[in-house]
Amino acid sequence: MSDALENLLSETRRFAPPAGLAEHANVTSDAQPADRLAFWETQARRLTWAREWDTTLDWSNPPFAKWFVGGQLNVAYNCLDRHVAAGLGDRVAIHWEGEPGDTRTITYAELLTEVKRAANALTGLGVGQGDRVAIYMPMIPEAAVAMLATARIGATHSVVFGGFSVDALSGRIADADAKLVITADGGYRRGAPSALKPTVDEAVKLCPSVEKVLVVRRTGEDVAWTGKDLWWHETVTPASDEHEAQAFDAENPLFILYTSGTTAKPKGILHTTGGYLTQASYTHHAVFDLKPETDVYWCTADIGWVTGHSYIVYGPLSNGATQVMYEGTPDTPHRGRFWEIVEKYKVTILYTAPTAIRTFMKWGDDIPAGFDLSSLRLLGSVGEPINPEAWIWYREHIGRGECPIVDTWWQTETGAIMISPLPGVTHTKPGSAMSPLPGISADVVDDTGKSVPNGGGGYLVLREPWPSMLRTIWGDDQRFLDTYWSRFDTMYFAGDGAKRDEDGNIWLLGRVDDVMLVSGHNISTTEVESALVSHPDVAEAAVVGATDPTTGQAIVAFVILRGGVDGDTEALRGHVAKTLGPICKPRQILIVPELPKTRSGKIMRRLLRDVAENRTLGDVTTLQDQSIMNLITAGLKSGTSAED
Ligand code: WT7
Repeated sequence: MSDALENLLSETRRFAPPAGLAEHANVTSDAQPADRLAFWETQARRLTWAREWDTTLDWSNPPFAKWFVGGQLNVAYNCLDRHVAAGLGDRVAIHWEGEPGDTRTITYAELLTEVKRAANALTGLGVGQGDRVAIYMPMIPEAAVAMLATARIGATHSVVFGGFSVDALSGRIADADAKLVITADGGYRRGAPSALKPTVDEAVKLCPSVEKVLVVRRTGEDVAWTGKDLWWHETVTPASDEHEAQAFDAENPLFILYTSGTTAKPKGILHTTGGYLTQASYTHHAVFDLKPETDVYWCTADIGWVTGHSYIVYGPLSNGATQVMYEGTPDTPHRGRFWEIVEKYKVTILYTAPTAIRTFMKWGDDIPAGFDLSSLRLLGSVGEPINPEAWIWYREHIGRGECPIVDTWWQTETGAIMISPLPGVTHTKPGSAMSPLPGISADVVDDTGKSVPNGGGGYLVLREPWPSMLRTIWGDDQRFLDTYWSRFDTMYFAGDGAKRDEDGNIWLLGRVDDVMLVSGHNISTTEVESALVSHPDVAEAAVVGATDPTTGQAIVAFVILRGGVDGDTEALRGHVAKTLGPICKPRQILIVPELPKTRSGKIMRRLLRDVAENRTLGDVTTLQDQSIMNLITAGLKSGTSAED
């Protein structure tokens, strides 16, 4: 990219924090602290340390940071024991809802007992500090128990999303050299049992490092059994529930989580304990304004993604939250399932992803309208830029036009939220993640690393180390340096395009690899998609740059229409030109029934580029639903495109 991104979209709507929330907000100022390290020391003191640190930050060997050097703590103790010791053992930690409708209510005391048993069982299996444990589980409470038990004994977990295949699982087990795998016979998905154990069996055959496989019985379906397998209910349940948590060094590895990169080999993002828990806990308190005595919090992510690590397990539990955990999909057995759960548990804080919100928009306003959502007081969004139309829909149809929305920008690599509104302080703008949180120095810079002025666009960077930053890529320090620290010398390169508006607020514009270069202008896919979705006929849009003989790249849009409309592609092209400027007018608009997405909901623009450029499709193994590409290409042949 030779120039910074164009700054095109203008959005003038503003939403003030509700007065009642502002009055009692956990955080009442968004000012950057004068002393960043002192600020993080204060946040670290929200946790219980067995030994206080000597040095807050050791940045003598950048970019290899050490936070709270010399400090010692136990992560599981901070999430469980200390709440029970404070007399909160009877508080519900997890309201678990299985997809078939079975439920479990688990208090902090019960969760602690189960984690102690699991910790003893793991120790009995020869797992100790420094060992890696792979976790491949459905969304059941034992997934959280497995993570916390691993953390409790100082070992390192690597959670692999339960939708991944044998190749993905075995590659991750092998890369981390895991000696134990924790899994289940299966989980429920879309109304039926979905087996996990056969995938583990195949993967373990390829991974000699694995000594034992611990299996939770969830579905009760028949499973093949190997010499390495042990049932959870025969190993963990009978184990002793006496276990004293030992403190570990603040830089003891807590988890590895794999995230896809530009090459085939996934990157094992390594997080440690003291700094990670400090920031996960503080941001959960600050951004969600959690009142642990009264709130019912629900993060709809899967535990296999970083959102599940930081905002189902470590953030909420360290703060003593009561939360909902749901096993299944939003459309089983009906499309109102999420809203039924909100109504049933009186959820007050809901944290979900733009891809889900746009799906709900597509399904229609009448579905959430059929449920009592009056308990909700705060809404969150994460995972990709949320376009203003989806933001407004979320506020109006889920948040009754009253709930503040926190659009939280962060990454697997950052470990915790970095840029977000503060719900009691920020006057939000639909589509903007607004400002770096206190203690975080994010910036938007041009090609040479200079801050862009207000109104400019460029690359998102982080100028200073932060407590929950990744420490390296597991086993590959060089790749860590090359990927994040070589584009700009002393700053972390996030790989996202961003703009800073006239007030200095930050708007994320998607991955820089997705930026289009049209007649010498850098145009963000996100902005063109937002412009399309702001048209009443459009439910969802994905935009790519396709090679073009005259303009270098030309904009090709894939559009899903709202139910019942025919869709005039000419009108849509005109709408984009009017909203953003003629340079952004798509060369071509293709009406499609679905969009190709990864399992975490990100649009696979690479495949759409293949379609737009009439190529055979590249690697589709990470595609959530492989039949979608057939639907798209079949539709195109029957001629639903408009072109000049
Ligand atoms: C990438 C990180 C963070 C947990 C889930 C994703 C995109 C994330 C936002 C947001 C715009 C966002 C970025 C980022 N992203 N949140 N609020 N606004 N973009 O974690 O899989 O590591 O992906 O997701 O492109 O770099 P991840």
